[in-house]
Amino acid sequence: MRAVVVYESMFGNTHVVADHIAEGMRPDHDVTVVPVDEATAEVLAGVELLVVGGPTHAHGMVSEASRTSAVEMAHRPGSGLELDPDAEGEGLRHWFHHLPKLPGVRAAAFDTRMGSVSPIVSGRASKGIAKRLRHHGLELAADPESFLVDKENHLIEGEALRAREWGESLR
Ligand SMILES: Cc1cc2nc3c(=O)[nH]c(=O)nc-3n(C[C@H](O)[C@H](O)[C@H](O)COP(=O)(O)O)c2cc1C
Repeated sequence: MRAVVVYESMFGNTHVVADHIAEGMRPDHDVTVVPVDEATAEVLAGVELLVVGGPTHAHGMVSEASRTSAVEMAHRPGSGLELDPDAEGEGLRHWFHHLPKLPGVRAAAFDTRMGSVSPIVSGRASKGIAKRLRHHGLELAADPESFLVDKENHLIEGEALRAREWGESLR
């Protein structure tokens, strides 16, 4: 099955999770992993399973304002944060506005979020992503899933493996 994993990522964690999910999906799927700016109509042509993920910002998906805050955070001296190569692109919200309807295509949504608090407090970008996928006519193949980072924005141990296993489970 032809699959595409699309990610948005500011500090690199969602990018890493996307790569692990894709690894888990192989060899059952022919998988392409792309940052959201590169998820063009050509890349999506013939897709049968579309997996989309992004970081949780302000309890939901990244916004222009939260992207600016993340860039400022990364530029702060001693932050220890590095911006992902595609961090300053348009982002998933913009991409969804231009995504054509893909009726019947299977899909799954994921996010990264702070693991130190419950999802009720942290929010989950994957809920907004899943809603938009459904709105575009896609059929959810799995419940939205979160992968956790710590307060320093490092992926918590074991989450990379969990991402791989989640990828394996997607059909
Ligand atoms: C501006 C901003 C707002 C954030 N808001 C939340 C939030 O509401 N809930 C949460 O769990 N994490 C929040 N976080 C933490 C992000 O979820 C975390 O940085 C992200 O998952 C890391 O993914 P990335 O490395 O791909 O950017 C926020 C981070 C930033 C920069």
